[in-house]
Amino acid sequence: MKGVILAGGLGTRLYPLTHVTNKHLLPVFNKPMIFYPIETLVKAGVTEIMIITSGPHVGDFLGTLKNGQELGCTHLEYAYQEKPDGGIADALAIAEDFADGDNLAVILGDNTTDADISKPIANFKDGAVIFLKKVTDPKRFGVAVFDPKDKTKIARIDEKPDKPASDYAVTGLYIYDNKVFDYIRMCDPNYIGRNQLEITQVNNFYIEDKALGWEELKSFWSDAGTFESLYRSNEYWAKKELKK
Ligand code: G1P
Repeated sequence: MKGVILAGGLGTRLYPLTHVTNKHLLPVFNKPMIFYPIETLVKAGVTEIMIITSGPHVGDFLGTLKNGQELGCTHLEYAYQEKPDGGIADALAIAEDFADGDNLAVILGDNTTDADISKPIANFKDGAVIFLKKVTDPKRFGVAVFDPKDKTKIARIDEKPDKPASDYAVTGLYIYDNKVFDYIRMCDPNYIGRNQLEITQVNNFYIEDKALGWEELKSFWSDAGTFESLYRSNEYWAKKELKK
């Protein structure tokens, strides 16, 4: 299994902070945000990692992460997404050569969690696995719609629904087999009308193929793309670190 961290975009919701640097390098308590997803992968035994980035501050990554050895990476490479607003699936498409047929653990660079994902990674065979988290504000996320006949199955994922069918948000942690690249080629940029290739459409292709499994994240998880969620992430990690 190899790892991919998606760290592109313009981070416009965090202006003026993201005029200073890329969102994923902003501090979350005592380290740059992207350290957290790297540590999540390394702790799960995934040490060959590609970081896909875009936007005006891409050069800042190299000086911060260097070859990733201090964080336990055995291989760290960087790739550039031409369209900073092309979407998560558009960014992931760039990792096809890096994957070289292998399975991928993918984490969005602003997602921090203290969940241990080593078991789902070790047990993964094929298809896809997504990680859900119960939230109070599901409208902001991809939301799992459970099969009414079998509540253990996800029937569909709705991206940022007005009327969420459940409280379970699709987090930005995913495990994919190599078919993900074929599914990305099938994506429609107008899927939800924001001219992006949506990872939710990719996950729905896996559901149609009966190849999507899921796990619930029981411990802390947050994204950090807005001031509120960035603050929440800082607060959680600061309290945890200061308690040590
Ligand atoms: C993206 C995904 C969404 C997911 C979220 C997790 O949203 O599209 O399904 O719930 O990440 O952070 P975006 O950050 O593009 O709004």
